[in-house]
Amino acid sequence: MRFQALEKLINLSDNYRRHFRIDQLALLLIQQDGELYLIEPRCPHREHPLDTARIEQGVLECPLHHYRFALADGQLLHASEEPCRHLRTWPLVYEGNEVGLLLPD
Ligand code: FES
Repeated sequence: MRFQALEKLINLSDNYRRHFRIDQLALLLIQQDGELYLIEPRCPHREHPLDTARIEQGVLECPLHHYRFALADGQLLHASEEPCRHLRTWPLVYEGNEVGLLLPD
């Protein structure tokens, strides 16, 4: 596995949201209430962008149909229409003064 840096820790603060594309992977890095999350950038329900999603106590709510996902493991917690797959999340890794993720070699 190799470390892929995404952001310097000094650049992070609450309400930080930034897109990354690493190889074929689309990622959204979010800091909210002091917690950092790395998720896919579009909702698994109908692909609505999650840039403006509300996050409270580790739960993300998509702005379009208000589906809710647990950020810890991406589990679908609430669906108002048909169920969808879970939200993809990645564990964050800290190395030196940067945060990133581990990718296969
Ligand atoms: S597109 Fe996100 S809840 Fe429907």
